[in-house]
Amino acid sequence: MKTAIVYFSKHHGNTKKVVDAIAAKHSDVQLIDCIGDVKDLSGYDRIGFASGVYAEHVAKQIQSFAKENLPEGKEVFLIVTAAMPNEHYFSDLTAIAESKHCTVKGKFKAKGFNTWGPFKLIGGTAKGHPTQEELDDAVKFYESL
Ligand SMILES: Cc1cc2nc3c(=O)[nH]c(=O)nc-3n(C[C@H](O)[C@H](O)[C@H](O)COP(=O)(O)O)c2cc1C
Repeated sequence: MKTAIVYFSKHHGNTKKVVDAIAAKHSDVQLIDCIGDVKDLSGYDRIGFASGVYAEHVAKQIQSFAKENLPEGKEVFLIVTAAMPNEHYFSDLTAIAESKHCTVKGKFKAKGFNTWGPFKLIGGTAKGHPTQEELDDAVKFYESL
């Protein structure tokens, strides 16, 4: 199944570590930076969206990308990293996928190192995340889809 993962990862590259771990084990997976030039998803059967969480939402950039470029009726999976991962962080992308009659086949969340605002003063939160175990879990998640 031809698969792409569109990602946004700007804070510490936490989300990129997760998608890189998947792509390292599955060389057929195409990684697409959502702020890059590639926009055409029509040739993929299955599309992942991966983002850090910024003020309770996945990146606006990945939401816009999905709204503009996700074709109708694809299989979709979602990955988020956050200081304190929560199910509701999937809701923006789930709503966009559903509006395009796409099926959300799976959701994966992992902790990501955070030094946003005041958290920097205490050396950050979720230090050391994503861990190797979380990266291994991400690969297992992908393989379970
Ligand atoms: C501006 C900003 C806002 C954030 N807001 C949240 C938040 O609302 N909830 C949370 O759990 N983590 C929050 N975080 C932590 C990030 O979600 C976490 O570090 C994530 O792994 C960043 O992904 P990235 O390194 O791929 O960009 C925030 C980080 C930044 C920089």
